[in-house]
Amino acid sequence: MCGIVGYVGKKSVVGILLDGLEQLEYRGYDSAGVAIKTEDAINVYKAEGKLGNLRDVLTAHLSEVSSSTVGIGHIRWATHGAPSVINAHPHTCNCGNLVIVHNGIIENYKELKIELEAMGCKFRSQTDTESVAHLIAAIYDKEKDLTKAVHIATQKIQGAYALCIMHNDFPKKIVATKRNAPLVIGVGDGEYYIASDVPAFIKHTKNAVYLQDNQVATITNDSFKIEDENGKVIEPKVEVLPWEPVALSKMGYKHFMLKEIHEQPDIIRNILVGKIKTSDSPIVLNEVNLTRETLKNLNRIQIIACGTSLHAALIGKYIIEDFCNIPVDVEASSEYIYRKTVTDENTLVIGVSQSGETADTLTAIKQSKARGSHILIITNRPDSAMAREADSLLSVNAGIEVSVAATKSYMAQLTSFYLLAIYMAEIKGSKSAESLKELKAEMLLLPQKLEQILTQKQQIQACARKYANTRDFIYIARGINYPTALEGALKLKEISYINATGYPAGELKHGPIAMLDETMPVLSILMNGSVYEKLLSNSEEAKARNARMIALTNSNNPKLNDLFDDIIRVPDVVELLSPLIAIVPLQLIAYYIAEFLGKDVDQPRNLAKSVTVE
Ligand code: M6R
Repeated sequence: MCGIVGYVGKKSVVGILLDGLEQLEYRGYDSAGVAIKTEDAINVYKAEGKLGNLRDVLTAHLSEVSSSTVGIGHIRWATHGAPSVINAHPHTCNCGNLVIVHNGIIENYKELKIELEAMGCKFRSQTDTESVAHLIAAIYDKEKDLTKAVHIATQKIQGAYALCIMHNDFPKKIVATKRNAPLVIGVGDGEYYIASDVPAFIKHTKNAVYLQDNQVATITNDSFKIEDENGKVIEPKVEVLPWEPVALSKMGYKHFMLKEIHEQPDIIRNILVGKIKTSDSPIVLNEVNLTRETLKNLNRIQIIACGTSLHAALIGKYIIEDFCNIPVDVEASSEYIYRKTVTDENTLVIGVSQSGETADTLTAIKQSKARGSHILIITNRPDSAMAREADSLLSVNAGIEVSVAATKSYMAQLTSFYLLAIYMAEIKGSKSAESLKELKAEMLLLPQKLEQILTQKQQIQACARKYANTRDFIYIARGINYPTALEGALKLKEISYINATGYPAGELKHGPIAMLDETMPVLSILMNGSVYEKLLSNSEEAKARNARMIALTNSNNPKLNDLFDDIIRVPDVVELLSPLIAIVPLQLIAYYIAEFLGKDVDQPRNLAKSVTVE
């Protein structure tokens, strides 16, 4: 997964490409490059490492390209070939006249390479992409029509791709195409932007055309034409994007992650507006396109997701089973797609994804759709590929999440699951009206409670620093907060690189307890409710092995002062809603530890925000 950008217009292209790539850094950041059309050539500049390195390269060569107005760029997350200058995009054909940038994976690149080498092409990189550069160039040499060459080449390539292509024969032209990878064209006044995602050009234009699979766009400074896979010209559908450029600024926070953690109270408020009018009135969820009859007759729900979205799904399972009496299975998409799964038209399949792009989840959803299941998608990107597969679309409206570590999107996914579960319970009559009313009233209070936690962030920071030098960390919880433990541990691992694991507390004594000694911190998510006493006992067992004990709790039990070395207190909340409260201090602990250790919080090593490869 990578980010691609392109520009054809009248402005100097260098800054536009670099700024666009900066907005796409969430997609990858191990190397970057641009190809810029100059008077008589296409110049390629690349650098290994973060985008700043490419900026330095371009600063040194600015005089060569400052007046250029056409170019393409790429930011990489390596799949084939290590992060290096040679493997960085753009890739060129042997004569250097044709350049391409690519996001995705070319599955038959080895076969193509053998064919192309036999024709005399010399490969320089270890990437799958380079084969496409040689292939299109070879076809172009015969056809002398770049758009046609791209059409023919894409019939030969297998896999997922978004491609931007330039040729030295055309001083102001970019050809773009895609299959199972995102690509959007920004339409300006006498200028066009091309990108993997909207943030790359939102500050220049809000008018955009989402390219569909197998379409080929030919873009010049004063026109653009889109053809379907058969070469038939089609009318582009220009949409006005709902995004605001301000959403992409850090707004004074040191990192996007910290800003996004602070946005969570408002995100819950925004989601609830119009959906819970009062605690007495039923939930309004017009997005769910299932008839009341079908909802009542559902016999099974499957939820498919990855990473943080998977943890939201696990909490979704807990509440849907509790509220609606429907069996729910949750599975990592990457497992789901490679086994025989049992779904039919009476199964509701829910896909959860912040980006709506995650390849494994997208494939799983397509498989279930083909088997006739109703597909409900919970996503932060209503403009995504996954959203387009939805029969029902719950858009979580968290705003663009920039930090690779998901925080506010998790909160928004959880809130959406609560709304969905209450909505279904109201239709099925599976939970008493009184208990649902209490729950809705409590939900309306959540934003203030989250704000209260955020006012205590200094204490959480102080606690986090005490544990910053540990090598391992254990999170324990039971019941509805077991997924909270998993998510807290994932947050810490991904941004601080500390080995953190979440366990159901009852499992501790079945093996993991062997690891406990005075060096091991154990954080117990000890929320009032049905499993409180059990978790207290498990915490005592850990203390008896000399572990360093931390409580995250809404309990005022004085006994905790003896048991725990550190206590993080959160506002009281009913057990069923406690995951929405408990996650915030865990996000902050992970953030402050990583920040204290000087880690790259928003762009942790080896990761990318959208995982568009299986
Ligand atoms: O966009 P998605 O929600 O489908 O992404 C799934 C995971 O890749 C994602 O949650 C990942 O685990 C995050 N880095 C977690 O912070």
